[in-house]
Amino acid sequence: MIHVPQLKLRGSEVTLRSAVKACRLPEETWPEEILHRRLCVSQRGSRTVVLLADPAEVSRVLVESEKRFPKWLPIYRHSAARETGSGTIFASTEADWVPLRRAIKPLFHSSRWSLLVDVARHATLDAITTGNPTKVEAFFTAISVDVIVRTLVGDDADATADYQLAAIAQGLVDRQHAGDLGGAMQQIRALANICSARGPGDAAISGVDMAGELPPRPRPMEEPFLADNRLGLLYAGQETTALTMSWCFWILGQDKELQSRLRTECREAMAATGCLSPEAVGKMPRLMAVFRETLRLLTPSSTTVRCTTQDETLCGEEIPANSVIVVPIYAIHRHRDLWDDPDTFDAERFLRPIKHPMAFLPFAAGRHTCAAARSVMYEMTAVLATMLDRFEWVTHAPEDMGMANKLVLSPTSEMKVTIQELEPSGAAVTA
Ligand code: HEM
Repeated sequence: MIHVPQLKLRGSEVTLRSAVKACRLPEETWPEEILHRRLCVSQRGSRTVVLLADPAEVSRVLVESEKRFPKWLPIYRHSAARETGSGTIFASTEADWVPLRRAIKPLFHSSRWSLLVDVARHATLDAITTGNPTKVEAFFTAISVDVIVRTLVGDDADATADYQLAAIAQGLVDRQHAGDLGGAMQQIRALANICSARGPGDAAISGVDMAGELPPRPRPMEEPFLADNRLGLLYAGQETTALTMSWCFWILGQDKELQSRLRTECREAMAATGCLSPEAVGKMPRLMAVFRETLRLLTPSSTTVRCTTQDETLCGEEIPANSVIVVPIYAIHRHRDLWDDPDTFDAERFLRPIKHPMAFLPFAAGRHTCAAARSVMYEMTAVLATMLDRFEWVTHAPEDMGMANKLVLSPTSEMKVTIQELEPSGAAVTA
């Protein structure tokens, strides 16, 4: 049986009263009932805080009536945007957000997935040569940072990393474990300086034509937005991706048979297409399902947060204007009405239709959906396919692992594995 850490929800209507804590400290503030109820409401003075786990109402808030429920900006400005600046897409006002989203959209376009998969494969092979997969989080952080830097600066996959990637990755992981956001951002700034100093430098996010590589954009991104978004994308993109790959690796280390089935799937897909490509990744539905199940149970973002601009009715309850609506992604992913055996790791469930599209929200939904939601699945699958082809591994003492909400849901201790090298099949190492 695969061990999956969980949060012990021990909040109540009283602890839910602080909107900031309800966003940042789920264990301390969310009542356990949110795992089987659709709505928890708490009121103090004029401020109402709502935990909303009803999928139809979540759909109305995030998608159908999204303009009536804008992001609750204080929480976004309270976190990483403190370090990146308020010009980042994550914390910008609606008016600033529209051109920013347009400017970055082409970065994640399907025409770039070939490059992304190629970069992911190269970054993994480089990390295998220079890093140490038994240091799971630092290893996958190095890969996700390498991929983001190479795709943000528009390098080709064969570019040599000319910076101390392993050291920066280890520095990031150490500071993230210590909850030292300022320290982590110093590492990110070092990377951002590398991005802006190298040709074609900021072209990828500024909208300058990259030799026809990207579809044309209406307006380039300019300072101070450029600097803030370089930092914002580097920070948000690397941590979520590295954590998801690390958790997935750690989960697979608990089940050698599952690893073996996935290895066969990956090798057959690569052999059929002759190399590791987006087409090959498309033939790896079981590995994709394992990633989805990892994202369901160990989702990096525990919440997405909106507010009301007028009086509303949610699940039949009157919710006044200026209320904070916390969509508890972690709780929806384990909700008793939305999932069978909700705390059990069972990737096969994603090979069948799920009960409601809003029951699975690792990338949120609506206009603020993660810009990289589709492309990052290709990246992560390409990385794990390369690892499965080269290694077999076993996770140490999984039952000792816990989970805590820092800026994202994070492991409470270092992930430990033993690795055994295999004879690679060939397709993952050749282009
Ligand atoms: C497994 C990896 C990832 C996960 C689970 C993830 C999750 C999310 C979530 C939940 C949001 C919505 C946040 C909110 O508004 O409350 C989001 C937004 C966003 N993500 Fe990701 N993300 C991942 C990887 C990435 C990567 C690699 C990039 C780019 C390099 C990226 C760029 C963005 C951007 C730009 C937004 C803001 C969307 C907007 O407000 O318009 N993400 N992501």
